[in-house]
Amino acid sequence: MQIGIDQLAFYTPKTYLDLVDLAHARGEEPDKYKIGIGQSEQAVIPVTQDAVTLAANAAVRVVTDANRDKIAMVLFGTESGIDNSKSAAIYLKRLLKLPDAIRAVEIKQACYGATAGVQFAHDFVRLHPDQQVLVIGADIARYGLNTPGEVTQGGGAVAMTISANPQLFNLDDETAFRSEDIMDFWRPLYRTEALVDGRFSENVYIDFFKAVWRDYQAQSKRSIGDFTAFAFHLPFTKMGLKALRAILPEASESQQKELMANFEASRQYNRQVGNLYTGSLYLSLRSLFDNAALKPGQRLGLFSYGSGAEGEFFSGTVSDEFDATESQKWFSTYFKSRQRLDMTQYERLFTQQLPNHDVLLDLSDDDARFVLTGIQHDQRQYLDRN
Ligand code: CAA
Repeated sequence: MQIGIDQLAFYTPKTYLDLVDLAHARGEEPDKYKIGIGQSEQAVIPVTQDAVTLAANAAVRVVTDANRDKIAMVLFGTESGIDNSKSAAIYLKRLLKLPDAIRAVEIKQACYGATAGVQFAHDFVRLHPDQQVLVIGADIARYGLNTPGEVTQGGGAVAMTISANPQLFNLDDETAFRSEDIMDFWRPLYRTEALVDGRFSENVYIDFFKAVWRDYQAQSKRSIGDFTAFAFHLPFTKMGLKALRAILPEASESQQKELMANFEASRQYNRQVGNLYTGSLYLSLRSLFDNAALKPGQRLGLFSYGSGAEGEFFSGTVSDEFDATESQKWFSTYFKSRQRLDMTQYERLFTQQLPNHDVLLDLSDDDARFVLTGIQHDQRQYLDRN
């Protein structure tokens, strides 16, 4: 029996910043951002969206009347939690009208949380092949105005259903993981922006990638020649390029060309959206499926990295039934419908934060189906406009 990703959808608000505008405003060469960092645009998240609404807006496209009753568990990966106690998965479960006989929990380990969800779901479905698990990766990546990390901000959510006989991606059993207590990136409870040791975090990412790639090869007896493409966690797309380059000499010359071309396909969406933290690897996987000419049975390698730090290399094959048409259409419509912000609008949206008292938010600039309407008695208020 094959187990893996049956459906994979993405959502982020339509407001975005062109990074040439950011480069001009910050006195940097646009090519530093476009080539050196590998980003063109970044999603800007309004105050009326949080991890819960981003997740709901993505998940509503993978949870339908056809599978609602099969979903036994919601695993919500996020490092942008909205409550220190109650899980975002419980709010989501209500907004999606999922049944009460369900487990709903949040998983936190920086950008790695959704991968923990995918792997736990894989094991669960093996025991319960008639059931499905909804896995979420939803975050808002914030470093702060005028910081080196600013160009690597972004946000959004991916929603995946993990099932038996999946339509998209069959997960292999072999997987190699590693965790170590490292201070490369963290966000203390009192902060809304992350703290990061930028260069160090890049080095740890590469060290973890090399270590788990080596362990995976030893375990699976596979080598780079067995792979058609790799998808990486992409905090900014140059990071994935650096990782790929670290192992590219292991491939033949013709395969190097194929891997590089497929890497370009895998970073297309991330380049325009920015960092998603937990969802980033899976947006890249979606980009790969939608923009490369993949064939059923081809093997893809995935590297997940969460600062602090935890990394995992795992793999899978393209499902016989995979069809990217609907997703390609969705992204094409989405990118055409976006609203480019100028620097003043971006800075205003970025600094607008939820107060810690009752508030009713202005929803006029947010056309999403699920929105945060405000706070009442210290409780977030959500609306499904459907
Ligand atoms: N044309 C082309 N390239 C140029 C250029 C130009 N005009 N000017 C500069 N560059 C290149 C530089 O040579 C450099 O390339 P390399 O990385 O290949 O050496 C690149 O542009 C970036 O330049 P700097 O290193 O000078 O950039 P910076 O100091 O301003 O910061 C950063 C870059 C460290 C990534 C910073 O944006 C940051 O801290 N980001 C957040 C942290 C992060 O994303 N870390 C990634 C690993 S951690 C992780 O993955 C978890 C997570 O999601 C956060």
